[in-house]
Amino acid sequence: MKMNKLIIPFLFISNILFSQNNSIPHLGKSGTATQLIVNDKPFLILGGELHNSSTSTADYMRPIWEQLKKKNLNTAVAPVYWELVEPLEGVFDFSLVDSMITGVRQQNMKLVILWFGTWKNGYSTYVPGWVKHNTDKYPLAKDKNGKSLLQLSAFGEETMKADAHAFKALMKHIRDFDEKEQTVIMAQIENEVGLFYTARDYTGDKLYKSEVPSDLLNYLKNNKIQPEIEKAWKANGSKTGGRWEEVFGKSDTNTVDWKNLTYLTEELFTVYYYAHYIGAVAAAGKSEYPIPMYVNAWIKQPGLSYPGRYPSGGPVPHTLDVWRVAAPSIDMIAPDIYIPDAISVIETYRRPGNSVFVPEIRQDRNAAFEAMYAFGEQDILGISSFGIDDMTPEQAPIRPAYAALSKVKDAILKYRGTGKMIGLLLDSLHPTRQFDLGSYKITADIGRSAVDFSLIFVGIPSKEPKTDLAAGIIINIGPDEFILVGKDFHLSLKQSTANSALPLLDVEFMEEGSFINGEWKATRRLNGDESFGSMGGDAGFGFKSDPTIATVVFPPSDKFNVLRFKIVKYK
Ligand code: DGJ
Repeated sequence: MKMNKLIIPFLFISNILFSQNNSIPHLGKSGTATQLIVNDKPFLILGGELHNSSTSTADYMRPIWEQLKKKNLNTAVAPVYWELVEPLEGVFDFSLVDSMITGVRQQNMKLVILWFGTWKNGYSTYVPGWVKHNTDKYPLAKDKNGKSLLQLSAFGEETMKADAHAFKALMKHIRDFDEKEQTVIMAQIENEVGLFYTARDYTGDKLYKSEVPSDLLNYLKNNKIQPEIEKAWKANGSKTGGRWEEVFGKSDTNTVDWKNLTYLTEELFTVYYYAHYIGAVAAAGKSEYPIPMYVNAWIKQPGLSYPGRYPSGGPVPHTLDVWRVAAPSIDMIAPDIYIPDAISVIETYRRPGNSVFVPEIRQDRNAAFEAMYAFGEQDILGISSFGIDDMTPEQAPIRPAYAALSKVKDAILKYRGTGKMIGLLLDSLHPTRQFDLGSYKITADIGRSAVDFSLIFVGIPSKEPKTDLAAGIIINIGPDEFILVGKDFHLSLKQSTANSALPLLDVEFMEEGSFINGEWKATRRLNGDESFGSMGGDAGFGFKSDPTIATVVFPPSDKFNVLRFKIVKYK
């Protein structure tokens, strides 16, 4: 192939740039899944978010870093406050940030920083005093009647510049201090942004009555649009020009029909300008140090499911396309989950081009089980329990799940996006799940054992505790070999296609262990009393009523088990 002399040096330079970019934390692809790459290797975030004020002094945090490690976290998620890094305009103090990075490094963990800049939960509580004192320069948002709201306006150009200036300085400092070690792996821009009690900020009323910006119109014209926005756009004639209500329809914030998103136009308008602002802040930071950056959402809650009840302008999933257009420097929109069903929330955020990181989830037993499922089935980049410094390591409900996940994270990272991994979540309403994995049809049933073995063998009632929740991950790592992580369920495996040469099945071996640097290391070979798998009890494997089914049951343990097993086919 002939190469133009001018092109060779260009390719060379661009390769260098590419490899330099690759060496800092970034997002990459693996099969159908997205990976977070840190220190040039895929990384799974087993995180916990510190309380809002915990990182406001180095002294307060000193004993806490070690506690996080004891909870089996590999990542701390922690605020950095604009008011403390820039107490006087243009005068920066990053000593707290350095103490956070150092504290995390000493525990061999990573750090996701939360930039508490212009907004924290909609309000502007963390802006420096010199911003709070100057509402002429840094204006507040206004309601329909012109009354000032308790938050800074996203239309405040000077506010945006000041926030972007501070965040840029922060990211430059982090690059200088941390690029080599890569302790800081991601940054969240602001926190749960949006307006309360109003769908839009009337400071921008003129803009609302003007043409939709051309970048959004061009996007609608040239891309596959997400269904919620496409529906409104098509219903109004797929216009490629016009004002907001001409393009997306009349906004009705009184009817509050959240199923039909009757308020969508005002919400999209608000999102556009929040995203534009936040995108500018992120871009300023990325111009210094382009690690992955995301925004987190106060999600729709039952009974509070329209904009203004949840913060209007925040990154809810039906507005993802607008974030893409107005904030291309934002890599992900991410849900904070305090409602009971985390799995469906993750599913609504898991859209083409949006991988899910859960920066905040409630701390309870269910969340630990849901985390297990989400890592196995929903390819999440990570999860983080909120208020992780609240409890002792012994009390933290996520700790046992993280203990097991730490042992198999290498396998999860290797097999995500390949179709060889299944996440399981069973409860009393859904006690069974059937699926195909490798060359097997597998049934997972809640409960530890398939049969009450103790009755069969010694005639006393089973002491097996009744369970209402079970979760786990199953990975098919070889033709007949599996990694099994989890708690309180058992598996029955059948061959998917009839095999007259080798019709019978059993567990050939089962081990408990973990992956160390990508290699499986067994801590015990299980058989006898621990193997419960086939017929159970002290009979080990190889004794069962239906030899065409192999049964795998966890050995008695209250922990999340980590096992590797292989099936033997025989006649
Ligand atoms: C969600 C916010 O993002 C957190 O900072 C915190 O305020 C929790 N809510 C509530 O504790």
